[in-house]
Amino acid sequence: MSTTAKPASVPVITVDGPAGVGKGTLTKRLAAIYGFHYLDSGAVYRALASQVLARSLVPEQLDEIVHLATQLALSFPPEHDYQTMLGNNIIEADIRTETCSAMASKIAAQQPIREQLLALQKSFQRAPGLVCDGRDMGTVVFPQAQVKIFLDASCQERAQRRYKQLIDQGISANFAHLFDSISARDQLDRSRAHSPLVAAEGAWVIDSTEMTIEEVIGAATDYIKRSL
Ligand code: C5P
Repeated sequence: MSTTAKPASVPVITVDGPAGVGKGTLTKRLAAIYGFHYLDSGAVYRALASQVLARSLVPEQLDEIVHLATQLALSFPPEHDYQTMLGNNIIEADIRTETCSAMASKIAAQQPIREQLLALQKSFQRAPGLVCDGRDMGTVVFPQAQVKIFLDASCQERAQRRYKQLIDQGISANFAHLFDSISARDQLDRSRAHSPLVAAEGAWVIDSTEMTIEEVIGAATDYIKRSL
């Protein structure tokens, strides 16, 4: 009888949650703490959206967009602070605009596009481990993940944080507009038919409305210590 043990799979920590909740900050810190690879799946949809906008395509031009999705050479190198790179270019500024956010949410509601991007996202699971954030990391892309976190906060608080972030960067911002745009994306992400935003079964749900980022990181590392 064979006694060959099944090789342990590369550990994955998923962090899902709504727009503007601070998933990126938490996930990058966790990647640095554990020396794991990092995947910002929102940046995957945003990078594709920026290509769609650059070519003046509309979300209904599915064949063209699915084809573009086959050619996304994305990386998030630690030596560049986990910023999004397309080929050799850092594309962070291009993909964080409100126009790009809205287009990302629209194309993300299309199942053929989500399917095409699955293999790319899965390819980030490499030793010694992966920390990833998005909407469906724990439910669809890495359902076998060892640690699943669902980070939440009220829409008011998320809009407030985004407002402060922009003002601190010297960028003018309108709170009411930010609130409306975040709640519109929430609505689309939670109600879509394919991979809607929902906490994965067994996920540890943390409401960060009243917490600082350091408190969230402390609570998350305690939870990971108990789970990995
Ligand atoms: O996380 P972020 O706000 O950068 O994501 C941009 C958009 O991409 C989201 O509003 C959502 O519609 C989509 N997205 C998704 N699934 C993911 C990550 C992001 O549908 N795993």
